[in-house]
Amino acid sequence: MFRNLLPAVILLGTASMPLVGRAATAFELKPVKVDLPDSDKMFPGPGSDAINNNCLACHSAEMVLNQPALSKQAWAAEVTKMINAYKAPIAPEDVGAIVEYLTDLKGAK
Ligand code: HEC
Repeated sequence: MFRNLLPAVILLGTASMPLVGRAATAFELKPVKVDLPDSDKMFPGPGSDAINNNCLACHSAEMVLNQPALSKQAWAAEVTKMINAYKAPIAPEDVGAIVEYLTDLKGAK
């Protein structure tokens, strides 16, 4: 009895193939250009490349810039603390530029 159903099942299966194909194209990704507003989550101004590249993985720029002004040594210690205590993957060649940037912007006078 089920043998008689087989051609119908095959036919149905083949007929639904184009539907499957169409469903797949519905998820096609298209590039869209979106202009995002400048975010206060980034460090502003010139010389901010090194710090933006290394210091935004775990917290925002705002959080760092809301700290009290510190001496150059204290900022250097802060960066070292991020590397040693929190295992921040900071490029060694960027440490100098990061400390300079923080001292310029938030240095203790
Ligand atoms: C691997 C994650 C990570 C990265 C990357 C990182 N930090 Fe942090 N940072 C933390 C954590 C965790 C804290 C302490 C917890 C908190 O308050 O969020 C913190 C806290 C701070 C504080 C607040 C004061 C303090 O000592 O708690 C400053 C300032 C700071 N980070 C600066 C930096 C700078 C500058 C960089 C880049 C050189 C950086 N962080 C990169 C994880 C990170």
